[in-house]
Amino acid sequence: ASLKMYVDELPEMPKLYGYTKGSGDSPKPGKLTIGMYETKWKFHRDFPATTVFAYGTSAETATVPGPTIETLHGVATNVTWENFLPQSHILPFDTTIATAIPSHGGVPTVVHLHGGIHPPQSDGNPLAWFTAGFRDTGSAWTESTYLYPNVQHAGNLWYHDHALGLTRVNLLAGLIGSYVIRDPTEDSTLNLPRGEFDRHLMVVDRSFYKDGSLYMNYTGDNPTIHPQWQPEYFGDAIIVNGKAWPYLRVQRRKYRFRIINSSNARYFRFSLTNGLSFVQVGSDASFLSSPVTTRIIFLAPSEIADVVIDFSKTSESESVLRNSAPYPYPSGSAVDKLNSKVMKFIILPGPPKSPDTSKVPQSLKNYPAATTTGATTKRYIVLHEYESSTGNPTHLYINGKSFFDPVTETPKSGTTEVWEVINLTQDNHPLHIHLAEFQAIKIQQIVDLARFTSCMNIKNNAIACNVTSHVTGKLHRVPDYEKTWKNVVKIEPGYQTTVVVKFNLIDNDAPYPFDATAQPGYVYHCHILDHEDNEMIRPLKLVA
Ligand code: C2O
Ligand code: CU
Repeated sequence: ASLKMYVDELPEMPKLYGYTKGSGDSPKPGKLTIGMYETKWKFHRDFPATTVFAYGTSAETATVPGPTIETLHGVATNVTWENFLPQSHILPFDTTIATAIPSHGGVPTVVHLHGGIHPPQSDGNPLAWFTAGFRDTGSAWTESTYLYPNVQHAGNLWYHDHALGLTRVNLLAGLIGSYVIRDPTEDSTLNLPRGEFDRHLMVVDRSFYKDGSLYMNYTGDNPTIHPQWQPEYFGDAIIVNGKAWPYLRVQRRKYRFRIINSSNARYFRFSLTNGLSFVQVGSDASFLSSPVTTRIIFLAPSEIADVVIDFSKTSESESVLRNSAPYPYPSGSAVDKLNSKVMKFIILPGPPKSPDTSKVPQSLKNYPAATTTGATTKRYIVLHEYESSTGNPTHLYINGKSFFDPVTETPKSGTTEVWEVINLTQDNHPLHIHLAEFQAIKIQQIVDLARFTSCMNIKNNAIACNVTSHVTGKLHRVPDYEKTWKNVVKIEPGYQTTVVVKFNLIDNDAPYPFDATAQPGYVYHCHILDHEDNEMIRPLKLVA
C-alpha cells in the first residue's frame, strides 16, 4: 500500500544567517558551525521515522534538508563543517569504484557549496574529505573552516556532500541544504514576494523499506563488476523539504518559490493544475533579464528555478504541482501515479490577509550577455559511457579520461571560454562546472552519430574526427528561462551543446578576493550523482 498524499504540511527548514547585523551600521561577515549528525527524520505522517544523516547546529535540531543559509551579497560567510557521523554508513556503497576509504572507519564527508565562487581550499574537493573529529582526512584536505565570499551574482545555491565515490550515498542519506545569496537592494528595486511568501522547495525522490529505512540497492545491475553501483538511482516517493507529497496552504496572492532539484538522477518537468503558470525570475546562479511566463519548468538534477506563482489567477481551491519527466531522461520509463505528483497547494478562500503589493517587474537585472567574443580558449568536452560485454554500464568518462588522469582543463583566472560539449551517450547529463557561471547558446545535433562515435572511441579527438562536418543537424532552442548565467546546463544526447563559460565571475569588476589558482583546485562533472561517483568527473585547475 502506498502512502497517502498531501497529509503532511510543507516544512520550512530552520534558517541560519551568514552575517551579523551591527547596530545601525552595515552587516558584518558571519561565522557558522554546522555539523553532520545521524538522527531520525519523519518523511511522512503514517511512516516510521527514518535513520538519516542530517546537517544542523546540533543533533537535536538537524533536519533533512539541513538549515537554509541566508547570506548577503558582498558580505562573507565562514562555515566550520563538523562530522559527527558514526563508524559505519547507513547505506551500502561500492568499493569497486574510486571511493574515500578512511583507515579508522567512519563516514567520509566534505561539503561543497554548489554554485559558489570561492577559494579552492573551501570548495569541497572530493579528495578533501574527513571523518568524525578529522581523525582521517583525504589527500586534498587542508582546513575545517570554509570561506564563502558571496561576491558573485545574487542567486540560489545549495550545499551538499562531495566525498569521493560516496556523493550519491551521502546525499541520499540526507546531506543536502539550501543557500541563498540575497541582493540587499533587491527588496527596494524589485519588490518580489518576500518574507513568508518567499519559500524554498527542495525536491528529491527516495525509496524506503517498510520499516522506514532508506532503500538503496545492495546489488548493482552488473554485480561481477560493480557489486552495488547502479547507473541511476530513482526513488518511488517524491519528497519536498523532507516530506513525502506535502501540502502548503497559500493565500490568493503571489508567492516566490526557489525550486531545487536535489535528486540523485531524476529530472523533473513541473507543471501546475488548474491553469496556473510559473513566472520565472531566476535560474540557479542569477536573475533572468526579464521574467518568463511558462507552463513548464524543466529541471535536471541540481538545476534551480526561481519562480513566482500567482494563486489569485485561479478560482479553484487547489493546485497540484505535477511532474512528467521520463526516467532516465529522455528515453526511460514514463511517470506513474506516484512520481507524477509532487505536492499540493491548498488555496485559501477569499482575498489575502493583507493586500498583495508585491510585483514582478518587466525587467529584472541586466547582466552582460553570453558571447563567444573575447573567449580565450575553445575546448571539446566529450561524454562517454562504457559498457561490459553484457551491455551493462561499467563507468562514464569525460574525454576518455579518469578523474585521476592529469588535469587538462586549466583556464586562466577571470577569462571566458567556449566549451563544445558532445554527448555520445543515450542520456541527458547535467553538466556542472565549479567556480564558473555559464550558459548554453547553441544546441545542435550530430549527424552520422555512429561513425563519429566510433572514431571518437578510437582517437578521442574531436578535431581529428572532423567534428565540424558532423555537427550539422537539427538545432534545438535554448529555452528563454535558461538564457542567463547558470551553474548547471543540460547536455542532450547525440547533440553538441555550445557553452560560454566564465571563470570566477563576480558581480562587478573588483579584484578577486582570494587566490583561485591555489591547491587543491576544482572539478567539473555530471550532476547525476551515480555518474559523478563513477568518474564522469574531471579536475579543473585555474592558472594565473
Ligand atoms: Cu553540486 Cu560538484 O557539485
Ligand atoms: Cu551523467
